[in-house]
Amino acid sequence: MEQKSTNVKWHSHAVTHQQRIAHKGHQPAVLWYTGLSGSGKSTIANAVDALLHEMGCHTYLLDGDNVRHGLNGDLGFSDKDRVENIRRIGELAKLFVDAGLLVSTAFISPFQADRKMVREMCGAGQFIEVFVDTPLEVCESRDPKGLYKKARNGEIRNFTGIDSAYEAPSAPEVHLQTAECSIEECARQVVEHLVAQGLVKKAD
Ligand code: ADX
Repeated sequence: MEQKSTNVKWHSHAVTHQQRIAHKGHQPAVLWYTGLSGSGKSTIANAVDALLHEMGCHTYLLDGDNVRHGLNGDLGFSDKDRVENIRRIGELAKLFVDAGLLVSTAFISPFQADRKMVREMCGAGQFIEVFVDTPLEVCESRDPKGLYKKARNGEIRNFTGIDSAYEAPSAPEVHLQTAECSIEECARQVVEHLVAQGLVKKAD
């Protein structure tokens, strides 16, 4: 990205990242959910969020459709706009991590390079890619918003999986095969990963 603002200076804050973390009983990280439209990203992210909240973690959830109503309301679904969508979300997620939270993002984020860019923005071990792996046929048969039907009829263009690419993660930290697992099982799998990585403490 071309830096357009000049005469700006980075300010160091009086309260450090470590001091912010010390207030929480867990480590901060981004849980980056990626998958096709209708794959279950938001549903699973919500279920994980509820479990983590119950465990006393400070969490926040950034959801594709919601963020596109506000912050990213000026972006469409061209490749260029999707790249900018993910760049902004990456920057936003990074601020939440700096604040000490476990932040979840539920965006299709179809391109490997963009997810890699966000991974590289984050500290070591602070980017957890969760691949919500639901076959296109399953997403299309669910079609919760009727968008696949519209895309097939040519009423929506650049629809992921139809006439716009989805590049599956090659080495996600968590791989959820949703056609074989319930939402609760998928959510538990994510939390177990966080526990195994020492980011959160196991619930009693
Ligand atoms: S991303 O590709 O830029 O990561 P994002 O997750 O923010 O996408 O938004 C995807 C949501 O926008 C879908 O779940 C769907 O509801 C809606 N949508 C509308 N048009 C499209 C399209 N052309 N491709 C994919 N999703 C679309």
